[in-house]
Amino acid sequence: MEDLSPRPGDLDPIETASIDEIRALQLDRMQWSLRHAYNSVPHYRARFDAAGVHPDDLRDLKDLARFPFTHKSDLRDNYPFGLFAVPRERITRLHASSGTTGKPTVVGYTKNDIDLWADVVARSLRAAGLRAGDVVHNAYGYGLFTGGLGAHYGIERLGGTVVPMGGGQTERQISLIEDFSPRGILVTPSYMLNILEAFRAQGKDPRETALAVGVFGAEPWTNALRAEIEDAFDMHAVDIYGLSEVIGPGVANECVETKDGLHIWEDHFYPEIIDPETGAVLEDGQEGELVFTTLTKEGMPIIRYRTRDLTRLMPGTARSMRRMEKITGRSDDMIILRGVNVFPTQIEERVMATDGLAPHFQIELVKDGRLDAMRVHVEADPASADPESRARLGAELRHHIKSLIGISVEAVVGAPGSVPRSQGKAVRVVDNRDTG
Ligand code: DLL
Repeated sequence: MEDLSPRPGDLDPIETASIDEIRALQLDRMQWSLRHAYNSVPHYRARFDAAGVHPDDLRDLKDLARFPFTHKSDLRDNYPFGLFAVPRERITRLHASSGTTGKPTVVGYTKNDIDLWADVVARSLRAAGLRAGDVVHNAYGYGLFTGGLGAHYGIERLGGTVVPMGGGQTERQISLIEDFSPRGILVTPSYMLNILEAFRAQGKDPRETALAVGVFGAEPWTNALRAEIEDAFDMHAVDIYGLSEVIGPGVANECVETKDGLHIWEDHFYPEIIDPETGAVLEDGQEGELVFTTLTKEGMPIIRYRTRDLTRLMPGTARSMRRMEKITGRSDDMIILRGVNVFPTQIEERVMATDGLAPHFQIELVKDGRLDAMRVHVEADPASADPESRARLGAELRHHIKSLIGISVEAVVGAPGSVPRSQGKAVRVVDNRDTG
């Protein structure tokens, strides 16, 4: 793989600023953001008043802990535009999530917000090893999802040539990758596996493409999957993180030269880690729920937003800003099976470690009498698809999961192609406990 360490001039000055400079900038911006929220959004004014705090009470970054959290339900309750801090006419763009439980949630951006977003995505792409002049294939979904357009504007800001492919049409993805020779690809890691599979199905060697960097995010993925993709394509696989409520993709990104967690672009997004039960702020290094406060966003500032994502904060390495560890999972995705907490990423690691299994998997929750049980659906590689090999692989996976995660599962090893494929975010858990 190519050495993609940054060259002089690749970084924004703030990326090499001292911690003291960054903290001073954050304090300034946080005071502005709290005031902006309080003065312009009735929801925040009511919440701050009820908690007995005022933006003037923030004299130190630590004082943020006195301010109330914002939850996803606050976005639903203020649907559609109730959390906007500027008149609707100043909102240039809306994005929305589909909302599995009733109303969707909506976010709004001013022209400056769109600009800032393009900047942080461009910074992320440079961290990933992409540069002005690169052709970049964008397979994140376009539309209300922030992935497609967020990445698109970032690629343009980088000075790249964007291929606005979007998700789906896997055969087409392959021809465009062959014909346009992109150096970079932006896509969910689970959809990248489909693209890989399609290359192989056509008898093509994915290592022959011009791809040098993949920037993968929007869902949890493991270092085991990173190794699989890097080897299959002979490319760097780098993690990008973000969420619509905060801005979209580009809140944090890994640096290609270290791949040791994601640097949070702290000049715009202030992170905290809290104990999800008590809400207490935890020290850096401790694992808990990630909470974000935007420092510069105009259209919809968000104060202490509870992401439900579980990780920990670590000091900077390739950049001075802090890193977050690769996300283990969302607290909503945590399965408690007979007292043991399990995340889909742990299952992914075990699937990846079993030679002869394809990297696709889905977890089904079922009832076994009165108890919950887990069925792990996987599939054999084409070379191990005979019944004996499948039975052996199932036993092996079950054994690995039992000995390393500590739970007994049923492993169903299907024929190649039997596990549902994703075109965007993969559905990792299907709950059939009610349907038997
Ligand atoms: O998924 C934004 C995005 C698009 C990020 C493209 C990266 C690339 P939402 O649809 O609002 O926004 O979903 C946000 O997805 O809270 C995490 O649970 C999860 N997520 C996003 N990036 C990662 C990642 C976009 N790198 C939610 N690792 C977040 C793990 C991720 N989970």
